[in-house]
Amino acid sequence: MTIDGPSGSGKGTVAARVTQALGWHILDSGALYRLVGLAAQRAGVDLCDTTAVAETARTLTAKFVDGKIFLDGEDVSLAIRTETAGNNASKVAAIPEVRSALLDWQRNYARLPGLVADGRDMGTVVFPDAGVKIFLDASADERARRRYKQLKDKGIDVNLLGLIAEIEERDHRDRNRSVAPLVPAQDAQIIDSTQLDVDTVVDRVLQAVYEAYPEAGLKNGI
Ligand code: C5P
Repeated sequence: MTIDGPSGSGKGTVAARVTQALGWHILDSGALYRLVGLAAQRAGVDLCDTTAVAETARTLTAKFVDGKIFLDGEDVSLAIRTETAGNNASKVAAIPEVRSALLDWQRNYARLPGLVADGRDMGTVVFPDAGVKIFLDASADERARRRYKQLKDKGIDVNLLGLIAEIEERDHRDRNRSVAPLVPAQDAQIIDSTQLDVDTVVDRVLQAVYEAYPEAGLKNGI
């Protein structure tokens, strides 16, 4: 199943909760784009140099172990989560050759009993045949407020207006790029989480999964 949507829509949290409830595997595809951005930056590659960034994506040596992410052997789980890393990810993600370099990597994640794939183009490009496709949306203001709270809780001081501007800039780039833009798949179920809490969203997503895959529900006693 796939969960796509803009930054801050709650995809990551919902994907993790749904994965846990189902006992399935998870693919956080945004982490791959974040890794390419970080690897390019560390190698001194100019993010506008599309050929060099694409080469970075093709030769990426990242590993996902026990919920941690390693780049060239170093744990970069936190380093890829900064706002700068998110913005750099969105820049490298607009390069078609970067996207094609990561395609097989992502598809190789599909495995039994099932996969929850979270990103921007999971339902449209990477897994077009997925049995359940969710597009999780929320207003830009609400997404910025959630992100603001997350950062504040971590003790990081941020400016809310600056955050809204950054989120809008990233959205604009993600929605308007020429390849794999952020759009709901035609057969996606759209959930607007602006007024919903996480539990409600998780319940709706699980309901959609149980309808499409009754055996997943049986395992969970439903
Ligand atoms: O989801 P996350 O915020 O970690 O993604 C970071 C960036 O990576 C997004 O802003 C988007 O530009 C890019 N991305 C993408 N396709 C995906 C996942 C993420 O283009 N499937």
